[in-house]
Amino acid sequence: MAFDVARARRETPGTARVAHLNNAGAALPPSPVTETVIAHLRLEAAIGGYEAAAAAAAQVEATYRAIARLIGCRADEIAVTENATRAWDMAFYAIPFQPGDRILTGHAEYASNVIAFLQVARRTGAVVEVVDDDEHGQLCVSDLRRRLEGQGGRDTRGGDVKLIAITHVPTQGGLVNPAEEVGALAREAGVLFLLDACQSVGQLHLDVQRIGCDFLSATGRKYLRGPRGTGFLYARSSVLDRVEPPFLDLHAATWTAPEHYEMQPGSRRFESWETNYAAKIGLGVAADYALSWGVDAIEARITALAEGLRDRLRAVDGVRVHDQGRRRCGIVTFTVDGLPAREVQRRLAAAGINTSVSYASSARFDLPRRGLPELVRASVHYYNTEDELDRLTNALPAYR
Ligand SMILES: Cc1ncc(COP(=O)(O)O)c(C=O)c1O
Repeated sequence: MAFDVARARRETPGTARVAHLNNAGAALPPSPVTETVIAHLRLEAAIGGYEAAAAAAAQVEATYRAIARLIGCRADEIAVTENATRAWDMAFYAIPFQPGDRILTGHAEYASNVIAFLQVARRTGAVVEVVDDDEHGQLCVSDLRRRLEGQGGRDTRGGDVKLIAITHVPTQGGLVNPAEEVGALAREAGVLFLLDACQSVGQLHLDVQRIGCDFLSATGRKYLRGPRGTGFLYARSSVLDRVEPPFLDLHAATWTAPEHYEMQPGSRRFESWETNYAAKIGLGVAADYALSWGVDAIEARITALAEGLRDRLRAVDGVRVHDQGRRRCGIVTFTVDGLPAREVQRRLAAAGINTSVSYASSARFDLPRRGLPELVRASVHYYNTEDELDRLTNALPAYR
């Protein structure tokens, strides 16, 4: 069935003002999300914040159910957080690393995650290993398999692998890492698997059962089109007894006796008490909105638009497309010979076209070894049009 782009654009007022190709930064929210957030803020102003939260209790619960439907888990396996980084941190810092424990990651890993690996390695003596890429430039599954051999004490290189933590879709390129194959290996080896799905949720069909991850972190504002300052963590209920949140408060746990506390039974133990209720409710509306379009239809439309943009860009003299991976998504990265990426971005912005720039400093396992100090990133969403892609492509020759 044809994707109703006209309706998507009618329900996205921002599309009338700008060609928004910065959806991997923050997508334009649809009207139902914006109206929900504003309505709750008005309610808080009218009757008081605590009273408004009580009045909206059912909507808050609906957020957990919507996210659970979106990724195929139970509502009590979801924690709503203020961003993807905090969601990821709450899972990662909950793992009790010992000296020699190995953490396996990939070249596409997000900068904040790597900083956390390095901090924990320094503190605990855990060791970080970067799995090789394959010939497509994505995580090499056979190298991962090799590194997992000998789990359970037979490994000659030292300790066991405690965690596989990879980024599904990197911030700096259009590849989609083979999460399901990684999940199958993690399960076989009995190793915890943390998937950073920040850039994939909302644009790709995600099913945590098929992926086989123990934790999945995501943000609200990118492809999911939710409010800024929202994110969520999926934590599989069966692994909760192997980890402990790095900090607890009176929402994550109950002070049961002067010397005792008990953690929440489900994944809300990774949350904190105070939260932005308007944004939290808006996040649920965004998840429902994505479901109403159908994630398969969204994925098909975004993937096709992005391939179309890559084809257009490849046809422009002096423009190079840099996306890797056997499977690609809505993030398109390119450079223009002789012109810094930030200058390309600036000129496109002046022409009413939003893009962004990825720098080597936020992808040190990836961009420097590809000889790329920076890239222009044009990230498409289903509400973008072929005409917008033409506008971007037609603007570039004039910059050289
Ligand atoms: C792959 C990846 N992971 C994590 C994040 C962090 O998300 P947030 O800003 O919501 O913490 C980003 C943000 O760009 C990202 O691209």
